[in-house]
Amino acid sequence: VQPLPFIDLAAQQAPIRARIDAAIARVLDHGQYINGPEVKAFEAALGEFSGMAHSIACANGTDALLLPLMAWNVGPNDAVFCPSFTFAATPEVVALAGGRIVFVDVLPDTFCIDPAGLTRAVEQARAAGLNPHTVIAVDLFGQTADYPPIREICDAHGLRLIADSAQAFGATLHGKQAGAWADAVATSFFPAKPLGCYGDGGAVQTNDPDLAAIIRSIANHGHGSERYTHERVGVNSRLDTIQAAILLEKLAVFEAELEARNHVAARYSAGLREVVTVPAVIEGGVSTWAQYTILLRPGERAPLMEALKAQGVPTAAYYPGPLHRQAPYADALVEGGVLPVTDDLAKRVLSLPMHPYLEPRIQDAIIGATRAALASIRT
Ligand SMILES: Cc1ncc(COP(=O)(O)O)c(C=O)c1O
Repeated sequence: VQPLPFIDLAAQQAPIRARIDAAIARVLDHGQYINGPEVKAFEAALGEFSGMAHSIACANGTDALLLPLMAWNVGPNDAVFCPSFTFAATPEVVALAGGRIVFVDVLPDTFCIDPAGLTRAVEQARAAGLNPHTVIAVDLFGQTADYPPIREICDAHGLRLIADSAQAFGATLHGKQAGAWADAVATSFFPAKPLGCYGDGGAVQTNDPDLAAIIRSIANHGHGSERYTHERVGVNSRLDTIQAAILLEKLAVFEAELEARNHVAARYSAGLREVVTVPAVIEGGVSTWAQYTILLRPGERAPLMEALKAQGVPTAAYYPGPLHRQAPYADALVEGGVLPVTDDLAKRVLSLPMHPYLEPRIQDAIIGATRAALASIRT
């Protein structure tokens, strides 16, 4: 069986290929490969799309998380709260910045950080002699975290808030993007992300002009106002002009793709609701569906993945090993000492092929194969 693509980047490229070729050719013609005009134009377009005052393109989504932590001088006594049920980049940047990771459990339905757990974690960090400093909420699989209560907790305790929106650029809650609540929004343009380029890329967005200026400086070796003057230790984190040129073309069709993703998700849920726990979207939320992730009964995942693979249907377990149980994060504080929801989800989640160009006929075959395999596993 010819395997299906998990995310079909070729199908996405086909209708805009000529425009992408022309955009790349323009960059080759002008030759400004670093900080070329497309980078500025893309930053402006990002701002327009999201309503954020400042958009700073950078090298990848991991840097987009690291840059605000560096701007805020997070140090060894500073607690940074984040979920363990996420991609490694989320806690990794806390360690890189020199802060102290505090893992918080997630909600069993949306898989995003649990506000009640966050409150307990803040108390726990304080009792451990740490300074509660920043929350990194993750917009997992494409939907926003529950920002209104998270923002309230941050305000009550003097915490800063980063939205790790690597998977969810364009997602909304009550019609607003994460930047309506977060001090900084980090996103990724990794090729498989809903808005992806053809290499690495990322962006930080903020409405705070002072933070934006510091992040711009850090992203370019801590530069000062004069050439070759430096005000701080920074990094080299820029978005290539070619990637910005590609992203401008992709952003032009992004809104339509988000709509298509929502149709695909609705079709999956209609076809699978009776047999598995289908993904729950937070009330008032619109997801970008970076992943369509079902919840299985214990023990079903491995045989279902095997059965689907045999029929050419790729699946993925995001994320099978909770980060708080992995060696690099052994020193992190864990809210309440255990993260039962995270541990449970890690064993039972399964993501199905998801992209805006998934044809109904193929999707129906995936739904049918999933239902049949589960029926046979359950007998
Ligand atoms: C939740 C999350 N945070 C951060 C990142 C890091 O993004 P990048 O791969 O662009 O560094 C990713 C994706 O890879 C992610 O899924």
